[in-house]
Amino acid sequence: MTDTARALPGVSKAVVPAAGLGTRFLPATKATPKEMLPIVDKPAIQYVVEEAVAAGLDDVLMITGRSKRSIEDHFDRAYELEEALRAKNDTQRLHSVRESSELAQVHYVRQGEPRGLGHAVLCAAAHVGGEPFAVLLGDDLIGAREALLRRMIEVRETYGGSVVALMEVEPEQVSLYGCAAIEPTDEDDVVAVTDLVEKPPADQAPSRWAIIGRYICDPAVFDVLRDTPPGRGGEIQLTDALRELAKRTTADGGPVHGVLFRGQRYDTGNKVDYLRTVVEFACERPDLAAEFLPWLRDFVAQADGRA
Ligand code: G1P
Repeated sequence: MTDTARALPGVSKAVVPAAGLGTRFLPATKATPKEMLPIVDKPAIQYVVEEAVAAGLDDVLMITGRSKRSIEDHFDRAYELEEALRAKNDTQRLHSVRESSELAQVHYVRQGEPRGLGHAVLCAAAHVGGEPFAVLLGDDLIGAREALLRRMIEVRETYGGSVVALMEVEPEQVSLYGCAAIEPTDEDDVVAVTDLVEKPPADQAPSRWAIIGRYICDPAVFDVLRDTPPGRGGEIQLTDALRELAKRTTADGGPVHGVLFRGQRYDTGNKVDYLRTVVEFACERPDLAAEFLPWLRDFVAQADGRA
């Protein structure tokens, strides 16, 4: 290994916070984690793990909480089910059942108390150690054809520090996101982040560039998070810790860059966006589209007729 490679270790671990209460989807999420809600026939969180693995990250740490046992079961072997499918020679379903248990090395740590995304990420400190790591939020799904995470890892390799994924949103949407003040670099899709504000009111937003749920964090973020007081909503915010790192140089754990993302992103964090995601994914499935799309067209035409 060269000295440079030793000084800048690669990204090999992904952290997936999954401890939220999922109150927006009650009563479905009373006993089922929201991460397990299906997008067609696969739980949302499996798409997230597949995205991490596609970017070369097969060590995945889930930050979980109470009532999240089914997530662990989903990424584990299901011996009785597998035997039953094998006895029926149902190889296709057998494959789909085994797939999630063979995807990645999945580890778990419990958050204990819901003190915010920053606190959830801090729970990963012991597992991650001194290496940069990716954070993937399950409410955002990125189109399988997009290479966003891989690009973010490249940007980290070039510039050091941390990297956030940014997407331009409508002004009235800015208050739903962490929002970045940015300056151009020599690369079209990369910006320097000079400031970050968590969920600003529209008139105080530094730009329309919103953080979507993909991050590459320098391990210096852990020390900063330990000193970060509760921010918006009384929670310890990852955005506030990254804001501090944005002011620093590489020697100190900074800076922060943004990758401007213009590809397919699906929001599953609220009911309407969740429904859109399910419909879009169904329309892209070769095994479903031929039957589902004509029905959808008729349904919309009839609904338009009634309106
Ligand atoms: C979190 C982050 C926010 C980010 C968003 C992306 O907010 O705190 O900065 O823009 O995810 O989805 P949440 O939506 O979990 O409240």
